[in-house]
Formats: sequence, structure tokens, C-alpha cells
Amino acid sequence: SNSQIMEDSSEVMMRANCRAKGGAPGFKVAILGAAGGIGQPLAMLMKMNPLVSVLHLYDVVNSPGVTADISHMDTGAVVRGFLGQPQLESALTGMDLVIIPAGVPRKPGMTRDDLFKINAGIVKTLCEGIAKSCPRAIVNLISNPVNSTVPIAAEVFKKAGIYDPKRLLGVTMLDVVRANTFVAEVLGLDPREVDVPVVGGHAGVTILPLLSQVKPPSSFTQQEIEYLTDRIQNGGTEVVEAKAGTGSATLSMAYAAVKFADACLRGLRGDANVVECSFVSSQVTELPFFATKVRLGRSGAEEVFQLGPLNEYERIGLEKAKKELAESIQKGVSFIKK
Ligand code: NAD
Ligand code: LMR
Repeated sequence: SNSQIMEDSSEVMMRANCRAKGGAPGFKVAILGAAGGIGQPLAMLMKMNPLVSVLHLYDVVNSPGVTADISHMDTGAVVRGFLGQPQLESALTGMDLVIIPAGVPRKPGMTRDDLFKINAGIVKTLCEGIAKSCPRAIVNLISNPVNSTVPIAAEVFKKAGIYDPKRLLGVTMLDVVRANTFVAEVLGLDPREVDVPVVGGHAGVTILPLLSQVKPPSSFTQQEIEYLTDRIQNGGTEVVEAKAGTGSATLSMAYAAVKFADACLRGLRGDANVVECSFVSSQVTELPFFATKVRLGRSGAEEVFQLGPLNEYERIGLEKAKKELAESIQKGVSFIKK
């Protein structure tokens, strides 16, 4: 009968909840914007991550369907769905890591900054929720324009009196993933063997690949340097144009987001030498935020690494990057301070 099915399923839920509460090894992770183009494959990949014990999927639409679907995967994490603003608090309570891919994506002809109008408000609301419900969580911010949304998040957290710069990380991993791929192609190597530091920010000329620091040590012709720099800086636009109005990178982004989130979780677990690039509060340049390699530990970005030696081409690129970054950061800060 129907009531029997309901009893069965509530008992199943109870057991799942016990398993989650009983401290099954692993971390509690929330995805905000979980029903979106990035959110869905990201939810799937996080459900497959053995470091995750509880996965909360929050969105303003369609999260029940995505949750039902993902929850049938026979992996360890317990999945729960949350729909709409009234459920934001329960979605966030107790979380160790919050990943935010909520917000509108670009269409051809737009810059990431064109998304500011809509996404700034979304990020503000979600960060107010984090400040209230899980102020100690590590935050991985994906929503564009990252160069402005990270400063927005910082200001919201400051206002709430809970800001810890180490715990707020702008996700620039996709730039590194692309750089590794494109550089490997030029060098004729397997991309898994290549490590390209990408510094600065996450938009156009603020994306600065440091080809002089590629591992394994490699030399490039000036033509290769210009081709690679341009392709890495415009990788997002390449996808936006190919998708022709239906969105921006979602699958490679979900992959990159999980690569980064997994590094954050390994850091939280106490693993040594977890190092990735991220857009964080920084004293590496005169700007308050900058992407460089950071060491991830129990409290987030515990160490922010210096830029290392740059060649002339990279020094010129750095000046251009800083000029645009300064404006984007200021725009984010004044959105909250005004
Ligand atoms: P999408 O439109 O497919 O999905 C966005 C999701 O966010 C939707 O499900 C929507 O309902 C949800 N959403 C909107 N307002 C919300 C709110 N207030 N609370 C919770 N959820 C809300 O877009 P997408 O392709 O997944 O891209 C999402 C964002 O990620 C965009 O801003 C995009 O520019 C950005 N992005 C960043 C990177 C990066 O490297 N950092 C890469 C790709 C995309
Ligand atoms: C990307 O780099 O793919 C994202 O920032 C999405 C975009 O608008 O390009």
C-alpha cells in the first residue's frame, strides 16, 4: 500500500541520515546553483568523490529532480535537495565546503563583466546565507565575474564579522586545466604530465599564464607563446561562441571545480603539499586580491605563493592584468560598500 511505501522510504531516509550523522568519514559539501549547467555535472562528480559524506544540492529551480536522480548513484555520499530561499539555511547548516556556481552565463558578444548586474546580487544573497549558517565553511566561488564576485563575498563576510580570507577562494582552476591541455598539445605531451601556473584573475587579459614556469621545463617560440597566451585567455569565449547562445563552459568547468574542491578537501583532511592556483586575498601585488598558487590546508589557503621569476613578455602582461583587475575588484567592493 501507499502508506507502507511511505514508511519504508522514511525508514530508509532515517538510516541514511543516521549514516551521515554517525560521522561516516568525509566532509559535508553544499552546491548552490546545483540544477544549472555546471551544477548538475558538478553534483554528479561530487557524489562520486570518496571524501564527501553529505552532499546538499540547492537551487531556486529544479533541485528536487536533480537530487532524486543523483541520489540513486550507489556511492557513499548522502544526498539531500533544497529548493528556494526559505531552504537556504538548512542547505548550508553544518557544511565544511560550499561551492557556488549560481548565476547567469555569457552569450556570444558579452564580457564576463556584463554578468555583474544579475550575478552580484545572487552572490551577495548566498554569501549572507553562508555568514549566517556556516561561517567557518570553505567557499569555492565560481559565479562570474569572479574578479568582482570574490571581493563582493569578502565584503559581505566582513560586514557580518566572520571574514576569514583563507576560507574564500575564487575558482580559476579552469584556466589551469585549459593551459595544461593547450600547452601539452603544443609540446606533444600527455596533459597529465604538464603543469602551467596561471595567475592574475579570471577574465581576458587578467588571465596570465606563466609559460616560463611550465613543468616540465620547456621552451617556446615567440609565436607559440602568443598563440598559447591568446588561446588560454580566450578559452571561455571559444566555448561561448561554439555553444552559440546556449551557454558557456559547463562540463570542463564541472571537471575543474571538482579537481579544485577535491584539493580543498584533501587540505582540510590535513594532507601535505596540496597546491593549486586560486583567486584569493593576497599581498603578492599591490592589489587586495590576486590569483597565484596557494597551499591548501586545514584552514583553507594557508600559504599564498609569490609569482616567481617572470620574463619580459609576462611582466608586460602582468601590468595589463593589474590595471583591469584593480577596476573589477573596486566594482565588487563598492557594490556592497555603497
Ligand atoms: P546556468 O544558467 O546553466 O545555471 C545557473 C544556475 O544557478 C541555475 O540552475 C539557476 O537556477 C541557479 N541560480 C540562479 N539564481 C540563484 C540563486 N539566487 N540561488 C541559487 N541558485 C541560483 O549557468 P552555468 O553555465 O551553470 O554557469 C553558472 C555561472 O558560472 C555563470 O555565472 C558562469 O559565468 C560561471 N562560470 C564560471 C567559470 C569559472 O571558471 N569560474 C566557468 C564557467 C562558468
Ligand atoms: C569560462 O572561462 O569558461 C567561464 O568564465 C565562462 C565564460 O563566460 O567564459
